[in-house]
Amino acid sequence: MSINVIVGGQWGDEGKGKIVDLLSKNVNIVARYQGGSNAGHTVYHNNKKIILHQIPTGILRENNVCILGKGMVVDPDGIIEEIECLNNNNIDFNNRIIIDYYAHIVTPLHKLIDKINEEKSGGKIGTTCKGIGPTYQDKYQRIGIRAIDLLDIKLLKKKIEERTKIAIDRSEICEDDLLNINLNDYYSSCIKIKDFINDSFPVLFNKDKSNILIEGAQGTLLDIDHGTFPYVTSSNCSSGGISTGLGIPGNKLDSVIGIFKAYVTRVGGGPFPTELFDENGKQLQSIGKELGATTGRVRRCGWFDIVAAKYSACINGLTGIALTKLDILDSFDTIYVCTHYEYKGSKITEMSKVLNYLDEVTPVYKQFKGWNCSVEGSRVFEDLPEEAKVYINFLSSEIGVPIEIISIGPKRHQILNLQ
Ligand code: GDP
Ligand code: IMO
Ligand code: MG
Repeated sequence: MSINVIVGGQWGDEGKGKIVDLLSKNVNIVARYQGGSNAGHTVYHNNKKIILHQIPTGILRENNVCILGKGMVVDPDGIIEEIECLNNNNIDFNNRIIIDYYAHIVTPLHKLIDKINEEKSGGKIGTTCKGIGPTYQDKYQRIGIRAIDLLDIKLLKKKIEERTKIAIDRSEICEDDLLNINLNDYYSSCIKIKDFINDSFPVLFNKDKSNILIEGAQGTLLDIDHGTFPYVTSSNCSSGGISTGLGIPGNKLDSVIGIFKAYVTRVGGGPFPTELFDENGKQLQSIGKELGATTGRVRRCGWFDIVAAKYSACINGLTGIALTKLDILDSFDTIYVCTHYEYKGSKITEMSKVLNYLDEVTPVYKQFKGWNCSVEGSRVFEDLPEEAKVYINFLSSEIGVPIEIISIGPKRHQILNLQ
């Protein structure tokens, strides 16, 4: 039995989907512990691009049972769309999806409240409008609706009616807004996903049969407690969320692999010390095809940030790193890495000191010579150009965690395994 973890080391979209796809080859359970359809995990299956939002990426491998853990917020309409995508790609999911009884459920009302809140704030946080914040809010207020409630549609309807009344009483929405909600389609989605709803405990804790891969969504800097609050998502995306979201305690985890892009991106609002507004930023965005997998928004781009990465390594207890999108740096003459920040005349090497003032820090960079050639043909670390090796070794030694996997393209085979 082994339990290994994949978490986002930055602000999300690091390429978690690709690495989960790689590592799910040798496991029998892939489980998500937090978030919902705000995630967009891209994988290539038979050369076709597939984006998964809620169903764990392990669904592409027949050997896996996929668990949507109780720490998630699950959108039934979204599940139906993903199922259609799986059907269209001839991926058999029979008896391979479990939505935990106690996962909270996103309703059209939650999505509407999310959208209205975003509009009212002038898009300050730039949420995905998938109803994530409002659904977690209901959970913590203990008025949320859970997957188990979907097993009794009459009860579900009553709960949704009650929640809608609360929304109107609190002026979260007005009566006219209800015209934008189609509950009939929603209820039919709820009925269609009933068979997936079950108790994940006996599956997760079946000692004879479980090699488990845990799939994080979002990234450490979007974590509600450890991220750049309030510009965060509403869950614990870092590895700490696993103990609550799946019930698997930290001392049962065999490895925690942090996924980092070879540079940094962020989508939505919030501070981003190494963000680039120059030609280099534009180049990273266009070569890296940095468009959000869930919302299609342009991702902000910047250089690799060691201060943030070290913080992330600590928070998650990283045992290894997978570095993705190295190929995107192929054509840069000079590559920069932020080694520390300056804040009010002081040198800052610890993120926690400035987490609340991150938009006021100045990044200080070390320069690296670019390799100016394609890494595409490399099969092992030794094949990489010398300049790339220097860059990778520097990141690894500064963060203090070994880089175990390097991704050099979006497809399954474009990977260097360093172990
Ligand atoms: P996730 O949310 O962390 O799973 O990441 P996304 O799927 O949102 O975004 C990562 C994007 O980078 C996707 O379009 C992937 O296909 C792509 N990708 C992943 N690894 C690599 C890589 O090594 N090189 C290139 N060029 N693209 C990659
Ligand atoms: P994956 O799993 C990148 C961002 C949103 C917004 C903030 C809050 O694909 O890496 P939310 O809808 O969660 O309330 O939005 O979090 N965000 C992500 N950014 N990747 C994601 O997921 C994200 N999920 C949420 O853009 O800034
Ligand atoms: Mg993504």
